[in-house]
Amino acid sequence: MLDVKTLSPVDIKNMSYNEIIGLVRETNRTPGGSKSVAYVTQMCGLKAGKTVLDIGTSTGITALELAMFSGCDVIGVDINENSLSEARSRAKKLGLDGLTKFINNDVTKLTFSDKTFDVVFCGNVTSLLDEPDKAFFEYARVLKDTGFLVAIPMYYVKQPSEELVKNVSKAIRVNIKPLNKDYWVKFFTRNVFERFIVKDFLFDYISDKDVNAFCDMILARPHLQEMSSEAFETLSRVYREYMLLFRDNLSIMGFSILILKKSDPEIEYELFTSHEI
Ligand SMILES: C[S@@+](CC[C@H](N)C(=O)[O-])C[C@H]1O[C@@H](n2cnc3c(N)ncnc32)[C@H](O)[C@@H]1O
Repeated sequence: MLDVKTLSPVDIKNMSYNEIIGLVRETNRTPGGSKSVAYVTQMCGLKAGKTVLDIGTSTGITALELAMFSGCDVIGVDINENSLSEARSRAKKLGLDGLTKFINNDVTKLTFSDKTFDVVFCGNVTSLLDEPDKAFFEYARVLKDTGFLVAIPMYYVKQPSEELVKNVSKAIRVNIKPLNKDYWVKFFTRNVFERFIVKDFLFDYISDKDVNAFCDMILARPHLQEMSSEAFETLSRVYREYMLLFRDNLSIMGFSILILKKSDPEIEYELFTSHEI
């Protein structure tokens, strides 16, 4: 567990946004938050007895809501131990520690047997990985033949400036490639997967006032008051900068809830497909 009292301003400056999330115990939601989780729960027919793998679970809210909404068993995996430890303590507080487990596992080399899960939920994680293809084949491997793969990729709907892409890449320590929706639909609709559902959304624009009010609320958390005043000042500045940067970035982005199902070789694919109007 991270000891906040020992953190220096330099430690804070060197942290990626993912590490800051673990430090401030931010609720790191999948795009669309609870609304997306409820939709997926319904569309994938999740209920008690089903098992879900939540990829890049961070502080665990998606995994916890999947268990809460449906009574299914969920394993959340991540490589950030601070975020996992926050997820475990949230599960305990919510009385969901019987249905959820949070374990340290690299999604490009999962330690689960083949065909373990009814649903693999990968939110907006795959685009942030160094080896997205490797992760995709791991999702396919651990999914049961009757299973669903859920991905909620975010993508630009307007051309971002080079500076914006550079700043966001630096914040999350990932070299962002500005990819569009079609890229992600094609990325996931291959190998053993066929398209089941594609539902599109745009992010709302959040004002400076609302971003700052959110930052004030997060920074008032009791455990952060144990930091040295210099480290806390750095955290306040860095956290606000991150949130304003993400607001600017999300204002030109959208996301899609993609639900893919494993193809059954005995049943021919659907020729007369349709789309919502
Ligand atoms: C954007 S956050 C969480 C996304 C959120 N759960 C969602 O549904 O969109 C991405 C998370 O992936 C984790 N992560 C990055 N690389 C990983 C890897 N190779 N294996 C497991 N988790 C990884 C990070 O630590 C971080 O907590």
